[in-house]
Amino acid sequence: MRILVLNGPNLNMLGIREPDIYGKDTYSDLVNLIEEYCKNKGIEVKCLQSNHEGDLVDYIQQAFFDKTDGIVINPGAYTHTSVALLDALKAVSIPAVEVHISKVNERESFRQISYVSYYCSKTITGKGFDGYIEAIDYLAAL
Ligand code: DQA
Repeated sequence: MRILVLNGPNLNMLGIREPDIYGKDTYSDLVNLIEEYCKNKGIEVKCLQSNHEGDLVDYIQQAFFDKTDGIVINPGAYTHTSVALLDALKAVSIPAVEVHISKVNERESFRQISYVSYYCSKTITGKGFDGYIEAIDYLAAL
């Protein structure tokens, strides 16, 4: 099983960025947690992060050519703006789960729309880093 975990803009700033909302753990901590978990489960995982929408589109397209079985995606602020990410997910047609560290549904009105959710089979919010693990388990069970 091969999984891509994709994080969007400002998620490289975890630990520094609004710790009251996103916690004190860093992006490296997140990657270590995911890699360790997947190693124990025998899942091949690739964790990528970019602050650039086009890079994220490229990573999703590459997942198709890499024969990736599932995508975990936290598009950051592009969640609420990007039709391009939605179209990329539809183009590759790989099962995908949307993850948000914070409780987006309890935040500002502009965070209430998610374009990728039109494609993702599951959305996990407000569970911190555990949300990524839950998403991996969901994809592994498919
Ligand atoms: C986020 C929520 C988004 O609204 C925000 O723009 C982010 C992070 C989350 O993980 O809670 O960058 O996706």
